[in-house]
Amino acid sequence: MTQSKKRLTVPQFAGLKGDRKIAMLTAYDFTMGQLVDQAGVDGVLVGDSLSMVVQGHENTLPVTLDEMIYHAEMVGRAVQSALIVVDLPFPSYHLGVSKAIENAGRILKETRCQAVKLEGGAEQSDVIAALVNAGIPVMAHIGLRPQSVHQMGGYKVQRDAPRLLNDARSAAAAGAFAMVVECVPSDIAQEITQAIDIPTIGIGAGADCDGQVLVTNDLLGLTSGYVPRHVKAYADLGNVISSAVRQYCDEVQRGVFPDEHQSFA
Ligand code: KIV
Repeated sequence: MTQSKKRLTVPQFAGLKGDRKIAMLTAYDFTMGQLVDQAGVDGVLVGDSLSMVVQGHENTLPVTLDEMIYHAEMVGRAVQSALIVVDLPFPSYHLGVSKAIENAGRILKETRCQAVKLEGGAEQSDVIAALVNAGIPVMAHIGLRPQSVHQMGGYKVQRDAPRLLNDARSAAAAGAFAMVVECVPSDIAQEITQAIDIPTIGIGAGADCDGQVLVTNDLLGLTSGYVPRHVKAYADLGNVISSAVRQYCDEVQRGVFPDEHQSFA
C-alpha cells in the first residue's frame, strides 16, 4: 500500500490555528486508524497510552521504541487523510540529541508517519531544536506529562502558570509545530494558546485550546475502571461488545450458530 498524497501535512495542520478547531484522536492499529481517519479527524496520534490501553501496563513507561514502531506501521498503512504523529516513548529522547535523532528518525523511516511527539517544554528545547533541524517535525506535550508520573507523584492537574507559559514559549521557540496541553486549568490553557503561534491541542485543558485530543478507547466507552474527568464517552461500545459476545456464546452453546446461512452445501 502506498502512502496517500492527500494526507494533511505538518504545515497544513499547524495552519489550522485561528482558522478552525482541530480534532485529534489516538489509534494503535489498522482498523481504528482507518475508522478515525474516515470519520474526519485532522490528526491521528499513535500515543504511548497504548502501553496501558493495548498492553495493559499501569502507566506509559514500559512501552518500547520497537513496540511503538510496530503499532505506528499499522496506523501508517491505514490513514489516508489525517496527519499522523507518533509518541517517542520513555526514555528514547532523554539520552542525548544524537540518540533522540536516531530514534525519532527510525519512526519516520519505518512507519510512514509524519511527526513525533515528546513530553516536555523548556527542559526539552535542545532536543526539539535538534530534531527539527534534522527535518523531524515535533509536537511538544506540556502540563501533565504521564512519562513523569513518578516525579509528579501521580496524574495531577498542573497549575504552575509561569512554568507552563515558559514551557510553551520554549517549545514553540525551539521549533515545535504544535503542542499537547494536558490537564491544565482552562484559564491557563487559554493564556498559553494566546501566547504562542502554534496550535495547542488540549486534553483536560478546556475549550479555548486550538484543538482537542482524546484516547479513542475512552471516547468509545471501551475503558474499564477509572475514567478521567476530562473524558466524554460518545458511545458505550464496551457494553455493545459484551452483549454481542454473550449472544454468540449462547448461540454456539445451544447449537443455534451456525445455521444453514453460514454453512456450505
Ligand atoms: O499517549 C497519548 O495517548 C497521549 C494523549 C493522551 C495526548 O499522549
